[in-house]
Amino acid sequence: QRTGHVSVVIVGGTGDLARKYLWQGFFQLYVDQVSGGNTFSFYGGGLSPSEKATPILFEILKAVTCSKDVSQERCAILKDQFLRLSQYRQLKALEDYQELAKHIEQQLQQEGMTEAGRLFYLSVPAFTYAGIAEKINSSCRPTDGSWLRVVLEKPFGHNYRSAQVLATELLGALKDEEMYRIDHYLGKQVVSKILPFRMENRKLLGPIWNRHHIERIEIVLKETLDVKGRIAFYDEYGVIRDVLQNHLTEVMALLTMKLPANVSNSGEVLRNKLEVLSSMLPLGKNQAVIGQYQNYKTEVQQELNKTKEHVSLTPTFAAVLAHIDEAQYEGVPVLLISGKMLDERVGYARVLFKNDVFCLQSQNNVHCKPKQIVFYFGHGSLKYPAVLVSKNLFKPALTGGEWKEVTEHKDVSVLGLQISDYYVQTPTTEREAYAELVSHIFAGQKNNFVSTENLLASWEVWTPLLSGLKGSFPRIYPGGADNEDMLDVHLRGKELRYSSEVVIISPDNKMG
Ligand code: BG6
Repeated sequence: QRTGHVSVVIVGGTGDLARKYLWQGFFQLYVDQVSGGNTFSFYGGGLSPSEKATPILFEILKAVTCSKDVSQERCAILKDQFLRLSQYRQLKALEDYQELAKHIEQQLQQEGMTEAGRLFYLSVPAFTYAGIAEKINSSCRPTDGSWLRVVLEKPFGHNYRSAQVLATELLGALKDEEMYRIDHYLGKQVVSKILPFRMENRKLLGPIWNRHHIERIEIVLKETLDVKGRIAFYDEYGVIRDVLQNHLTEVMALLTMKLPANVSNSGEVLRNKLEVLSSMLPLGKNQAVIGQYQNYKTEVQQELNKTKEHVSLTPTFAAVLAHIDEAQYEGVPVLLISGKMLDERVGYARVLFKNDVFCLQSQNNVHCKPKQIVFYFGHGSLKYPAVLVSKNLFKPALTGGEWKEVTEHKDVSVLGLQISDYYVQTPTTEREAYAELVSHIFAGQKNNFVSTENLLASWEVWTPLLSGLKGSFPRIYPGGADNEDMLDVHLRGKELRYSSEVVIISPDNKMG
């Protein structure tokens, strides 16, 4: 792409997401690009008038930080420049967008620069997307030869139908290639390494990445926090729409899709992902166990001003058994599990192999029995993302900042797996995931974003389950440490059983 002036507009620029992650991500982009020939201006947009919101925006901007490799003096200079390039603008009516466009054009003239592109990040509720996209389309399109990129945050719809309506409305204003739907899990270090890991180890993994050798696949995100403060949103969506339909489904697709010839070829990556999403069997009610933490009911009553009789059926926990209708994965159970207020904060995807899989590869080798490959996402600043290949089944967990089975990865070279590059020892944060995705948007790389087709394919899988669960009472769980026994998934013989739960799912029988 050509170099020139880049205008970045965060609509919802003083909101929570912008405050926590986005401005930091764009500051990082500025630091990375400052000597690359482009010039920048940054706009925080919102509904409030400028006098009110400008001080709030600058308070947020002053809080951005530099990475450790930048000296304090240099950091102070960069921050100062970043602040001078930034401003707040009220973005409410069409005229506000027209004014913004005029301002950008004046800026270009003053600088005597050609334009590289305009990036709009919509960090606002999804029901406002179509209206804003229309205003951008009618008044803020860049000059010829430069790009327009519009970034959208989930939720992308409520079910298949509403996602389709939203997608159609957006396509009336923007071209598909101009839209970047963010799923921040795709910016996580380990998640972005799933495909390269599979690629680089394809000689070894290729022959065993199938139903003959894979016992099951698990994708798990257990959280310890409640949803206080965001119940108005959460009660409408629940855990399935909040996490399973998007983050966990994306991870599942990366684990099971056909390998592309080139991981950076967006078209091929997205096509292969679409193929596996389309071959997932639509989910039904008896493939899910749902729960709700005990205090949720009271939190809803308080935050939404409801009476004591009000009952919410929104699940805060779900364990779902999915199947991929392809010969390669025939009968392989794929478990997707997530919940709030659980006993631990942990997120991982693991592929569990049937016995002695690797012994087929390296006979006579005493180290030849890894049982599983774990992609551990890492959480917060205390935990470390990693890809582990382990000889035993174990629950990925950290004690005192160290992997319990940290020695395991040393055995891996014996098996010929290329793993050392993937053992990432730096902490990763949601903040960094956003910074990573911002750099992809700037580079126009779309492979780590959710295309319209892939979004709809995922909703096709999840919508029957959501409809089927309507009116179902989730099981109430106490919340906190007491839940381990109740909600953990145990393996008993060939059955996958949610302990003390009535549902027993056998991997040999597909549930319809
Ligand atoms: C968000 C959900 O998309 O992802 C939250 O809205 C959830 O409810 C979060 O807590 C999990 O992300 P991470 O990066 O903290 O695992």
